[in-house]
Amino acid sequence: MANQKKKFFSHETLETNIGLLIIASILVVSFAGLVQIVPLYFQHSTTEPTEGVEPYEALQLVGRDIYIREGCVGCHSQQIRMLQSEVQRYGPYSLAGEFVYDHPFLWGSKRTGPDLARVGGRYSDEWHRIHLRNPRDLVPESNMPAYPWLQHNSVEGVDVQGRMRALRAIGVPYTDEQIAQAPEQLQDRTEEDALVMYLQSLGVAGREAAARAVAEGSR
Ligand code: HEC
Repeated sequence: MANQKKKFFSHETLETNIGLLIIASILVVSFAGLVQIVPLYFQHSTTEPTEGVEPYEALQLVGRDIYIREGCVGCHSQQIRMLQSEVQRYGPYSLAGEFVYDHPFLWGSKRTGPDLARVGGRYSDEWHRIHLRNPRDLVPESNMPAYPWLQHNSVEGVDVQGRMRALRAIGVPYTDEQIAQAPEQLQDRTEEDALVMYLQSLGVAGREAAARAVAEGSR
């Protein structure tokens, strides 16, 4: 070994030089990351909406902002994984195409409460109102906070058109007509109405396509 000429591009050079090793590791990890991530930008399953999925209506969009403001995502995820236990509990697992209009997405990573990806249609609007005003009225052991002020705050002044235009700029296909009619949808509505509308929309549109995917996957 001692009289062997050391090659520059050898493992030994890399492994004995911390600077080179760091640079080489960063290069390898970046390349591997790109190989995984870049194709997702071109795959239809991740860039096109699942069958039936439409952009949020104005009131739902405002409700979504309240969901973000109130930090619901800190306790609730919105992604059903491909595990039997999750599918049995929450419904068909989530598909990437169900989230193409979500900016930012609200998948979350913490489940103090249950996953909400398919909560739409599971309860009545009235159930949600009672639950939001005081969860303990319906689920005595619940540790979810109460949000009683939402019913008193109007959403009439919210600049929903600006939001829709911003979303359109990044690819959500709102029509001029939808944007023009948006403020009308907010008339006489409260933050609670908006949030309930949003919750009731969750996971409903893609449910059938997702159920088919689950059935095909289990064959
Ligand atoms: C501190 C954690 C926490 C926060 C924050 C929180 N929740 Fe919950 N949530 C829970 C827990 C725990 C449950 C289960 C008990 C219950 O139903 O109240 C729950 C249940 C729910 C359910 C019923 C789900 C089901 O399938 O039965 C809905 C809907 C819900 N939360 C919506 C919200 C919304 C909307 C917000 C924000 C305004 C919110 N939660 C904020 C903890 C939280």
